[in-house]
Amino acid sequence: MTDVILVEQVERVVKITLNRPDALNALNLEVMEAVASALEQYDRDPNVGCFVITGSEKAFAAGADIKEMQDKTATDMLNADWFAGWDRLSRIRTPILAAVNGYALGGGCELAMMCDVIYAGDRAKFGQPEIKLGVIPGMGGSQRLTKAVGKYKAMDMILTGRMMDATEAERCNLAARVFDAASLVDEVMNIAKEIAGFGKLSVMAGKEAVNRALEGGLTEGVLFERRSFHGLFSSHDQKEGMSAFSEKRDAKFKGE
Ligand code: CAA
Repeated sequence: MTDVILVEQVERVVKITLNRPDALNALNLEVMEAVASALEQYDRDPNVGCFVITGSEKAFAAGADIKEMQDKTATDMLNADWFAGWDRLSRIRTPILAAVNGYALGGGCELAMMCDVIYAGDRAKFGQPEIKLGVIPGMGGSQRLTKAVGKYKAMDMILTGRMMDATEAERCNLAARVFDAASLVDEVMNIAKEIAGFGKLSVMAGKEAVNRALEGGLTEGVLFERRSFHGLFSSHDQKEGMSAFSEKRDAKFKGE
């Protein structure tokens, strides 16, 4: 049997490639377990500073696996707490970049949105087509898409099930940047290497602080950010980063 994901470490970056080409990388329970376990395994590794999740040129992922779910009853879904395993991604502290080529539909779009940044290939297609299957998004799409693009665009996407292309995704802040499809993964790996080259403490603090903006009120979020900023002044990397600036040299971060 082939592996449902491929995991490769390049310098300080771990790349996870979804690998179910015959099913356009549909996300079944095995993929969920494999992705979450790989992220957890490397998250605390001081030699890993960034993750990249990608798929193929045809599909990042065409959704949750419809064939795995189609005969389930509501009781089955409730008992299994279907999709709850994906919540493990929200506890990963190392940044996760999504490199999206091709289809990112349903759970595929939702997986991309669980990542910290979405970079799109110029032929990417995003959508939440669950309405066409008689359901709604179930991996957080109604919440994360609405926070990303606002109520009206999210309603348009979720109630019509239409796809949006990469240009529209960038325009409405779903994709941070768009690259040529053929060079997307290399471009994102380079961004990941850049992020992984900074001090891991400050990178994790930056991720945590931005996420606070989405989850709490402004006053509480600003205070959280400031306290976290203060705490970094006990790290080697803060002393090194600021000294290197003053001494006009490159910083040597240690993640301490
Ligand atoms: N689940 C299971 N299998 C899937 C799949 C999915 N989400 N998407 C594609 N596949 C399978 C197809 O059944 C097909 O398998 P067979 O060769 O065995 O028939 C294979 O992948 C190739 O797919 P197509 O032949 O359909 O490829 P295409 O190029 O003609 O169409 C597509 C591509 C438009 C993406 C089409 O595959 C499609 O519409 N897929 C389903 C998209 C979808 O509805 N996603 C939402 C799923 S529900 C969900 O995600 C819930 C949630 O919120 C988490």
